[in-house]
Amino acid sequence: MRVLAVGGGAREHAIVRALARSGADVFVCMKNSNPGIARLAKGIALVDETDVQKVVEFAKAKGAGLAVVGPEAPLEAGLADALEAAGIPTASPRKGAARIETSKSFMRNLMRKHGVKGSVKFVEADTIDDVKRALDELGTEIVVKPVGLTGGKGVKVFGEHMMTREDIFAYAEEIISKRIGGGTSMVVEEKLVGEEFTLQAFCDGSRVVPMPAVQDHKRAYEGDKGPNTGGMGSYSQSDGLLPFLERKDYDDAVSIMSDTVRALRMEGAEYRGPLYGQFMITKQGPKVIEFNARFGDPEAMNVLSLLKSDFAAICDGMAEGDLSGLDVEFDGKASVCKYVVPQGYGSKSLSGEEIKVDEKAIEAAGAVLYYANVNEKDGRIFTTTSRSVGVVGIAEDLEEAERISEEGIRHVSGKVFVRHDIGKKAMLDAKVARMNKIRGLSP
Ligand code: AMP
Ligand code: GLY
Repeated sequence: MRVLAVGGGAREHAIVRALARSGADVFVCMKNSNPGIARLAKGIALVDETDVQKVVEFAKAKGAGLAVVGPEAPLEAGLADALEAAGIPTASPRKGAARIETSKSFMRNLMRKHGVKGSVKFVEADTIDDVKRALDELGTEIVVKPVGLTGGKGVKVFGEHMMTREDIFAYAEEIISKRIGGGTSMVVEEKLVGEEFTLQAFCDGSRVVPMPAVQDHKRAYEGDKGPNTGGMGSYSQSDGLLPFLERKDYDDAVSIMSDTVRALRMEGAEYRGPLYGQFMITKQGPKVIEFNARFGDPEAMNVLSLLKSDFAAICDGMAEGDLSGLDVEFDGKASVCKYVVPQGYGSKSLSGEEIKVDEKAIEAAGAVLYYANVNEKDGRIFTTTSRSVGVVGIAEDLEEAERISEEGIRHVSGKVFVRHDIGKKAMLDAKVARMNKIRGLSP
């Protein structure tokens, strides 16, 4: 099978490796020269991933019979629609269904209209008067989000990034004047308190096949401090749950994803592809923070490293709208992924700096390496403004997986940093204690 993959990050390195493991010939369009992807691919094109015409031409020229799109921006640009119009079945949603991610107001209205559990109270706002009305209705314990895509960096939370009503109005003004997220609209929604987790599922338009739960860490610095980032690292547990996540929470989250896919179908926007649910477990159970129309990054590195089944067949099932009868199995192991990122990442990254990656030593440590948004030039590797390298440890338990990931990271050097606390026992214990308190249980 000849497959087109789009994107040049670590998520896409994991996608391409999983496709290659299935025996597919993979052809990749990406904007940066990712050495891990380049090595696995049968052909690459360095292009703007949102240049729909160029990507479709490349796919046609390579005779692709299936496509998988990693990032959200090409989906918003209608890449899946264009690939399908060119006769290439695509395991990623069309523009209409991708609105579940690309428009936060669409997502909230869809859940409200169809009575999907896990919704939150929200008000759409375009003006400061709308924001005032939102505060009259919801109080100040709220979160402000631009409606459009902001790379995970547009959300401001009262009590963290905004301390007063004036701060809320100032941020709303900024969204309007700078068109953050590509427009002047925002969603003001109730602030949720709890622990966050990610649930990803393969979807074929009606069926939802869930993957192990994962927890990402968005804050740049240890102890969950500092600016929000695309994600600094993530872990998953051998039973598919998380230390603070009960089976019932997981099952409830699967139902919410299922009901959302059904709601999309009823709206005429069939969802085919991996769906990412970001949940907050609250005292009342899981609530939706956001949906993404793709795999998570870093979360894809956890689940795809554990996937035992034929990934190309799963992608084909999603693209063709039929996952029935397909075996989807994950290795019952724990995984810990830590990102090595350029110094300054989260505020102002040191880009264009050379890093050294000792691949052999990382392999000898038993860790799995995924290259992210770096550029290879004449055999040397340079940082961009985004994340550089993901290192994953896989083992029977989290402690060992964490140790392996750390062992691997030692062999990446340069002007970079890592959040070493991810997956460490002290951090996990603190999360369990916090969640127990929220649930009203003794710690
Ligand atoms: P998002 O881009 O929607 O994933 O939001 C980024 C981060 O903002 C999330 O990972 C949460 O930590 C936080 N956040 C978003 N929505 C809420 C909410 N309703 N309540 C509390 N925190 C939120
Ligand atoms: N890990 C967060 C995201 O992929 O959006």
